[in-house]
Amino acid sequence: MSVIYLAAKKCRCYIHLRMWHGAKRLPEYHPQTLLRDWGDGHGFRISDALTGVCVFGATGSGKTSGPAKHLAYGYLAAGFGGLVLCAKKEERRQWEQWATETKRHKDLVIVDGAGNWRFNFLEWEASRPEEGGGLTINIVSILDEIAGAIASSGTSEGGQGDNKFWDDALHHLNTNLVDLPLFAGLQVSLPLMRSIVTTAPQSLDQLNDPEWQESSTCSAIIKEADRETSKGTPEVRADFEECRNYWMKEYPQLSEKTRSVINLSFSMLARPLVTRPLRQLFSSDTNIKPEAAFDGKIIIVDLPVQEYRLAGRIANLAWKYCFQVAVLRRTAPLTRDRFLRPVFLWADEAQNFVTKFDAEYQAVARSAGGCTVFLTQNRESYRRVLGNTDAVDSLLGNLQAKFFCQNSGETNEWASKLLGERWMTITSTNAGQSKNEGRPLADGSHSAGVHRSDQRRAFVEPSFFTTLKRGGALNNNQVDAIVYNGGHLFTGGKEALPYKLITFNQS
Ligand SMILES: Nc1ncnc2c1ncn2[C@@H]1O[C@H](COP(=O)(O)OP(=O)(O)O)[C@@H](O)[C@H]1O
Ligand SMILES: [Mg+2]
Repeated sequence: MSVIYLAAKKCRCYIHLRMWHGAKRLPEYHPQTLLRDWGDGHGFRISDALTGVCVFGATGSGKTSGPAKHLAYGYLAAGFGGLVLCAKKEERRQWEQWATETKRHKDLVIVDGAGNWRFNFLEWEASRPEEGGGLTINIVSILDEIAGAIASSGTSEGGQGDNKFWDDALHHLNTNLVDLPLFAGLQVSLPLMRSIVTTAPQSLDQLNDPEWQESSTCSAIIKEADRETSKGTPEVRADFEECRNYWMKEYPQLSEKTRSVINLSFSMLARPLVTRPLRQLFSSDTNIKPEAAFDGKIIIVDLPVQEYRLAGRIANLAWKYCFQVAVLRRTAPLTRDRFLRPVFLWADEAQNFVTKFDAEYQAVARSAGGCTVFLTQNRESYRRVLGNTDAVDSLLGNLQAKFFCQNSGETNEWASKLLGERWMTITSTNAGQSKNEGRPLADGSHSAGVHRSDQRRAFVEPSFFTTLKRGGALNNNQVDAIVYNGGHLFTGGKEALPYKLITFNQS
């Protein structure tokens, strides 16, 4: 009787668990909500999405049509909002198809060159009601983030070191460029910042030149800010003096080289944003904001790097950083049984868009419903942009679920190490005849035997990743990927394994 009772109890418990884990009993966006079922009681849940995903694989290995499509369908069907960065032209069409098939087409917001959707991020930042004093810092952070990404992509090593001097010098310029109009009570905009830089004094002599004083926007705003701040508190006045010092003492005395390098850096950042096609999208009004994703919108930045080059990167980076900032400012619902709608930050060919901020972002985004999905070929593609292995490790450490498609090179060694090793009993046999100077020994002694030894062996050898199915007709439209999910053990076979081999159907 007790056996039957126990079995029944186990069964009831199982049913109960099934119901709890099934969509019906769970509150909306509960972390245990199953997004994709992988069989044997395993799958991909909202909690897994929240701890971040990265996908690796050679070009054409099936990253996009395999794991990416598989996860995207799960995220879309579950009602996630999100931001999609675009490196390639076909991404917009692909997401339109994915959204249509998951009945999410109405939630798409396509930000493209047509300018129907516009986002003036400086105004957005300046108009936040909860803002209290950190305005300059926040606006400058957006500019620094974009400028940093542009600068690092230009050097093969993504280098640090003496870049720091230029980064700091540009940061200092940006800070004073944002502060000056704010002290004058003016709305900060990129065209205004640009005209301050282009009319700033080039030498101490120029400061006394009446013609410069008459015609310079920089000079006019300094005067205006002087008037405005003279009515303010001593603290405000002291801050203004700092800013005025920059423009009237430091800037004109910078070496010719330093001044031209930081002006060029600023100009590379600002010019695309104040000229076509981005001007209308970023420097006019606002009818779409990152927060729209919190209501379920899926914002596609259809200004692919492949086509729009630098302007495309800047557009994607501006959207990305503002989205990340918005997610981090999100507040959780007060009641315990309510959960934030998850929002994804999606980047295929992510080497075009990664910055050091991403690791920091994903580490805390989890509690704000942020789910990052980054796809790239290999670790080197991140290292080229981020500059060093530590930065790559920090990023990948914060993207817990890892999908490895067919690949070659160093990433395979790394993946093999990540999956770990186990003890294996290795049996070797040998049979032979001992030889002496080519002749059998007189006594004809033989050596033969079976040896058993316990050895550490990788769960998955690096070479195994070279053999995974890459999709296409040759592979019956099947894509293989090895999934590692932050040490989760997958059971089902003979032993629990820290990975699972999943085959995705492309069609
Ligand atoms: N829907 C599909 N059906 C069949 N084959 C496809 C499909 N999508 C892509 N392929 C093919 O599968 C291979 C992998 O494509 P893809 O997923 O784009 O790789 P990756 O994103 O890793 O570069 C390519 O050879 C591609 O032509
Ligand atoms: Mg792809």
